[in-house]
Amino acid sequence: MRSFAGRDILSLKEFERNEYFRVFEIADRVEPYARDRHNGDLLQHKTLVTAFYQPSTRTRLATEAAMHRLGGHVTGFSDAKMTRAGDFYQEGIQDTVRMLECYGDVIAMRHFQQGAPAEAAKHASVPVINCGDGWGEHPTQVLTDMMTIYRERGTLDGLTWVLIGDMRMRTMHSISYALSQFDTKVYVIAPDEMYFLPEFADEITERGLNWERKEHIDQVVGEADVIYMEPVVQPDYTKSRDERTGDVGLTPPNYQVTKKLLFGKAKADAIVLHSLPRMDELTPDVDTTRHQRYWVEAYNGVLMRMALLSLILGAFE
Ligand code: CP
Repeated sequence: MRSFAGRDILSLKEFERNEYFRVFEIADRVEPYARDRHNGDLLQHKTLVTAFYQPSTRTRLATEAAMHRLGGHVTGFSDAKMTRAGDFYQEGIQDTVRMLECYGDVIAMRHFQQGAPAEAAKHASVPVINCGDGWGEHPTQVLTDMMTIYRERGTLDGLTWVLIGDMRMRTMHSISYALSQFDTKVYVIAPDEMYFLPEFADEITERGLNWERKEHIDQVVGEADVIYMEPVVQPDYTKSRDERTGDVGLTPPNYQVTKKLLFGKAKADAIVLHSLPRMDELTPDVDTTRHQRYWVEAYNGVLMRMALLSLILGAFE
């Protein structure tokens, strides 16, 4: 297996099947810190730099929490407007990362431009973690999703997934790459204007993903082991900030998951995942059903990032 030490985590395209299990194994080993709410000292001599050019609740705070749990240090920004990248100077990625690499040992970056973390990695002498780049990818979210399913089902093979919502989303790209490493059947449900780009559809087919398009959740909810959701009412991820103005519309039933739908049709052990935040595509009455695992992911997201940081920073080989 390739070493994780010093590695950039930019895409799940490059992630090999056995590497998922290695990350999950390390997550098990570091879990006592998170479970017992007790910060350790595994990364006490290391510093994480967070460079977030787009809003985030989960990804930034889970990554920072992971570093704190391991006794490491954290610096960075959560609003580029308060840096030279977001003011008059519009300082570029190359110049910015030449600074950031001196302030810490790993950079976690979210950016509104697809490919920005990869561009940063070209110029940084420390590893870069892609925490979401435009419509591109969101590897750490999907590693958390995969770990959540592995913990629940004990396998990532032999499962039927329904991907529902906006297929342009970075999570949908990363999950498609991830699922292509496993024996899965995938149904894809999205409006035409939010469907996979033709070249991406061709790419995942070439990668061996067994997938098929459907029109309505009703058609496949009874077959699903995992329902993986994103909104169809959502912001433009190529903008640094997209604030809601006025009425944004409602989600058509084709792309909506409700308690009534699940109790009428879903398998008893079907799992619903959503990277959050949600709009009305996932109704709050699902939160108290046995199908809900999106709140479980708040915890798993910290564990997974503890594992990734430990591996990248060489605390485990
Ligand atoms: N899942 C996710 O990326 O959430 P945030 O935008 O809050 O980080």
